[in-house]
Amino acid sequence: MSHEMIGIMPLAKVLDIPRHKAALDRIFFSSSARQSFASDEERGVFRERWLGRYLGHDARHGFVVIAHGLGEPGAERSGGHLIGYLVASLDNPARNPRFADIGYFQSFAALCEWYPAQLHINIDASYRSFGIGARLIEQFCDYARARGTAGVHVVTSPASRNVSFYNRLGFEDVGRNGIGANEVVFLGRTL
Ligand SMILES: CC(C)(COP(=O)(O)OP(=O)(O)OC[C@H]1O[C@@H](n2cnc3c(N)ncnc32)[C@H](O)[C@@H]1OP(=O)(O)O)[C@@H](O)C(=O)NCCC(=O)NCCS
Repeated sequence: MSHEMIGIMPLAKVLDIPRHKAALDRIFFSSSARQSFASDEERGVFRERWLGRYLGHDARHGFVVIAHGLGEPGAERSGGHLIGYLVASLDNPARNPRFADIGYFQSFAALCEWYPAQLHINIDASYRSFGIGARLIEQFCDYARARGTAGVHVVTSPASRNVSFYNRLGFEDVGRNGIGANEVVFLGRTL
């Protein structure tokens, strides 16, 4: 990390580069809440729900983080390696049939009017806690604000370590749904 240069670029620019696409999947599955699947089909449905649909329909709203090794022979030409991503949608998910398979959006329908954009972010485990995730969030918020989006939200577990990450970036706990281990928190930030 100390010998690397970190840059953020639009997701759409790297989607046709096989090694970057492979890195996206690797980072997604290595940090997903679910680690085992009964079949390849089940694994595919899970990927489509939390990553695939954003790469397909919403690639223009996403960003990736590329690390370039400093002092490595050929580093400039190698194009670097992908170490994190943010995928997002700007559409209100409670009003869009595309997201009808995710039940909690209906229970958060009123909040989705205020905070319609949603995002999913993942940083490779060995690059976490260096401030990269915060940079990625700010880049996305600038982008969404410039397009007239009123607010952005994430839905996560209230027990997750990432809650403090979002709180520091101005996301507030504005709604809860479910109980016990199934409880989720809606964290919203006005843009
Ligand atoms: C959450 C995450 C995107 C933050 O990116 P980052 O580059 O580590 O963020 P920053 O360096 O700007 O901020 C560090 C904060 O991120 C959070 N964080 C760090 N590692 C984390 C992990 N393994 N899981 C959850 N949150 C983590 C913590 O809040 C940390 O602050 P702390 O060290 O005071 O606890 C990144 O850690 C990650 O990909 N975590 C796993 C996946 C995840 O939780 N994604 C969000 C789903 S809603």
